[in-house]
Amino acid sequence: MFEEKPLNGETPENDDVGHQEDRRFFLKQSIALAGLTFVPGGFLQAGEQDEVPVGNAEKVKLTLTINGAKRRLTIDPRVTLLDLLREKSGLTGTKKGCDFGQCGACTVHVDGQRVLSCLTFAVMQHGRKVITIEGLASNEQLHPMQEAFIKHDGFQCGYCTPGQIMSAVSCIREGRANSETEIQEYMSGNLCRCGAYPNIVNAIMEVKTNGQKV
Ligand code: FES
Ligand code: FES
Repeated sequence: MFEEKPLNGETPENDDVGHQEDRRFFLKQSIALAGLTFVPGGFLQAGEQDEVPVGNAEKVKLTLTINGAKRRLTIDPRVTLLDLLREKSGLTGTKKGCDFGQCGACTVHVDGQRVLSCLTFAVMQHGRKVITIEGLASNEQLHPMQEAFIKHDGFQCGYCTPGQIMSAVSCIREGRANSETEIQEYMSGNLCRCGAYPNIVNAIMEVKTNGQKV
């Protein structure tokens, strides 16, 4: 759907050497990440769990495609995909609500699947394609789901809306928008403090009923 293009002078990888390099990066990153989660039991005394120093993790290299643009980054392996998008890529459309996997505000698509970016390590997305709310529209043309949300007043404050729209698109793509009940169940992980739920369901129903390509 999107043409891969270099960003900020970054060079796209399209040869064998590049792929081998990628694999080495991935293995190194996986090992580094595994090391982070392993704390020898003998190092901990009873009641000292909260006092374990975090320390500095070795930075790792990461290549991924965000909204059609290939990015090469050097990051702390503990960074979540959400923080990478917001803090390192300037893509603040994806929202941080709970930062705990409970609200859905951080929903994005990775290789076509919806994921909670606050629960996703960025380093594990090496080589994958990420689409955020900023990448849903095509040039100046809003995505049909964005238009439907506007038409049906599917938001009030708008904070949850990027995540709602990304989930709404997945809802139709995965064939889970065949009834109001089905939509409500699929969308139940996306919370809206403003209570725009009925209008959100109406928006999804309309896109589904019209057979619009999502
Ligand atoms: Fe990710 Fe709430 S910010 S689920
Ligand atoms: Fe305000 Fe959903 S529109 S939280």
